[in-house]
Parts: sequence; structure tokens; C-alpha cells
Amino acid sequence: MAGEQIRLLVVEDVPQVASHIRALLQAQSQIKMLDVVTSGDRAVTAASEFKPHVVIVDALLQGRVSGTQVAASLRAAEPQIAVIMLTVPQNPINEDPERGIDAVLKMPFSGFDLTTLVRKAHDEHAVESSRSGSLLVSLFSPKGGVGRTTLAYNLAVALGVSHRVCLIDGSMQFSDLRGLLRVPAVAPSIVDLPTDRIREQDLADVAWRDPSGIDILLAPPRVEMAEMVTVRDVEKALSILRQLYEFVIVDTRAALSDDVLVFLDASDVILEVLTYDSMAIRGLAMAGETFAAIGYPAHKIATVLNRADAAGGFNKEDVEQAIGHGIDFEIVSDGHLVLASNNEGVPFVTSSPEAPISAGVRRIADSLAAHLNERAPALARR
Ligand SMILES: Nc1ncnc2c1ncn2[C@@H]1O[C@H](COP(=O)(O)OP(=O)(O)OP(=O)(O)O)[C@@H](O)[C@H]1O
Ligand SMILES: [Mg+2]
Repeated sequence: MAGEQIRLLVVEDVPQVASHIRALLQAQSQIKMLDVVTSGDRAVTAASEFKPHVVIVDALLQGRVSGTQVAASLRAAEPQIAVIMLTVPQNPINEDPERGIDAVLKMPFSGFDLTTLVRKAHDEHAVESSRSGSLLVSLFSPKGGVGRTTLAYNLAVALGVSHRVCLIDGSMQFSDLRGLLRVPAVAPSIVDLPTDRIREQDLADVAWRDPSGIDILLAPPRVEMAEMVTVRDVEKALSILRQLYEFVIVDTRAALSDDVLVFLDASDVILEVLTYDSMAIRGLAMAGETFAAIGYPAHKIATVLNRADAAGGFNKEDVEQAIGHGIDFEIVSDGHLVLASNNEGVPFVTSSPEAPISAGVRRIADSLAAHLNERAPALARR
């Protein structure tokens, strides 16, 4: 975000303070002062008109609407805007982002204090609001063939019924989703993104619009092209995708290497997928130790037992003990339906919504949707 000019609106009824701020900002170009609103009751309308990144509100505003009321209404109406409260030492105020107070600026302040705080509030709030407005979910397993691609696609489509969803094909070498969806080899992929400065429009240009209604960021069409995708490009693409979509779902490949860790690190939720298979269970137990060593919190990880009705001599408690935590979701086997749907490239959650396997996927989708709402109540209402 460095380099972007920050748009600032000031809500201030004391003309001298407003001109002081204007004078301090005159000698620099990183912050553009859009306007001064002199009455609290016009603040929200002005914010929707001027589209500022940051608003400075005088806490001691006179008139019908107080400074703290302005901050709270701005947070409710325009949660993406960072709000800085301006006050004097005799009237101390605490930061309270829930009520729209992201930072506090005390008088007197220098030009350096002002520009530093505006940039800091802007950068921190941009990260926070893009995070809270979206959920990045990676489907992971150290063992292949457990159903990640099948579940990722159907989960993305189930979420797509009521959310903006982008599915990322994280198997950079073999592009599982290209195979599943039969997209033409010429369909654009993550390698078509510019290598240094990726912008929103670039992502819109390379996303594949699936007939199911979701957008898909495909992996390259050829194995050797995987090397052209760098960790930095993926990080940048993920941070922009979070601003465009409510859910970013990633189908990862079976490994715990840098190209997979870039997705797992950025994820809010890692959906570990396993089956009743001793190698899948052992692999997840080992991956769990690595996650703990990296410092992933336990709440970041949820476990899906696929083909849960095909126990093959195991029982659920044994598996939970082996992996060191509980199983959160179970998906039944339905070889006939999964094979037919995957071969046609059609999601079973829409072709056979009543099937038990579809109900299982919807339960995961509902739980993730509830999780998103908890994190971003203000954004979810919009
Ligand atoms: N619940 C299920 N019931 C029946 N068959 C399933 C189920 N889930 C997955 N399969 C089948 O298992 C196979 C592997 O599934 P999928 O390709 O989705 O797994 P993966 O973990 O992505 O594998 P890979 O390691 O190849 O990326 C496929 O043939 C798929 O049809
Ligand atoms: Mg796969």
C-alpha cells in the first residue's frame, strides 16, 4: 500500500484547527485533504460522497452530534474508513475500534505526528478491514487422493450461493481444477498476472468464471510453468483477492513446502482433509506437529474426515487420538455421484443437493459463513 495517496476528510468546527491541519499537509503529497466538514451531522453524508480513506474527527465538536457519535456512525455506515479522534490532553480518549476510534491524535501536534499517524491508521485499518471482511480457507492434506479438490470445488460452489467466492487452484504443477473443470488450455492463469505490481483489474482479467457462478484463479497449464509463480506474487494476489471476495478457497497440493505454506500462512482456516487411511492419518499427525512449531493457533485448524462411512477397521476415536484433536466435519462416501459429477465437471452440491454428501459439504459452508459473520458483523450487513 506504500505509495498510494491517502484521501483525508476532516470533521472540525474550529476554523483555526482546520487551517492548521491544512497548512501542515501543504508541504507533502502522500496525504490529500479532501474537505472540512464543520458540523457532525453532515459527516456521514460527506464521507459517502468524498470516499476518504481516513477521517479526522474533533472529539470536542459542538452542536447536536458529538465527536464520539460521529465516529460510531462512520464505523457503522462506512466500516472501511479509518477514523482518528482529535483531542486535547485535558480530554483523554482511548482507542476503541468497535466505536470507530482507530487512533487518537493529541494537540498540539507537528506535521510529522499528523502524517505518521494518518498513514499508520490507514495501513492498519486497511489490513484489518480486508481481513475481517473475508475468509481465506485452504484445504490441506500431506497425503494425496483424500478428496481436497472435490471438496474445495463443491464447498466453493456451496458458499457461492450467497457469497462472492474465488477458488484458487493451488496445485501449481498439475492444476487439478483444470482437469476437473475441463477449462481450455488457453484459459488464463496465475502466471498471466504481472510479476511485480498486481492490481485489482489484473485479477479480474485472469479469473476464470465457472458456469457455477464462482470465479477461479487457475494454476498454469504446463508443469514447468509452476516455477514462474513466486511466493511474493501469491502473497500479493491473496491480499487483493481478500478485498474482492468474501471467501477465498484454496485447493493445495499434497506437500508442506514453500508453495503450500504461502497459502497456509495466509489462511484464516486450514481445513485438513483425511480419510480412514493409515498414511493420511500419520501424515496429518506429523503436519500437526509442524503447525504447532510454526505457531499456528489451534483455532486456525479444522478437520474434515472424508468418506467417513468407510472406516476400514479404524474408529473415529483412534483417529482423533492419533492426530491429537477432534474431527469437526464428516463427509460420507458417494463413489457413484462423485465420479459422475467430477467427470462432467459439475458440482454435486447443485446437481444433487439432497444427497447426504452435499448436505455434509453445506454444513462446512454454513459453519464458515457463520464464522465470517462473527468476524465482520458490520460488513456482513452491508
Ligand atoms: N466423498 C467421496 N466419495 C467418493 N469418492 C470420493 C469422495 N471424495 C473424493 N472421492 C474420489 O477420490 C478421488 C480423489 O479425490 P480428489 O482428486 O478430490 O482428491 P485430492 O486430495 O485432490 O487428490 P490429489 O492428491 O490428486 O490432488 C477422486 O477419484 C474422487 O472422485
Ligand atoms: Mg487435488
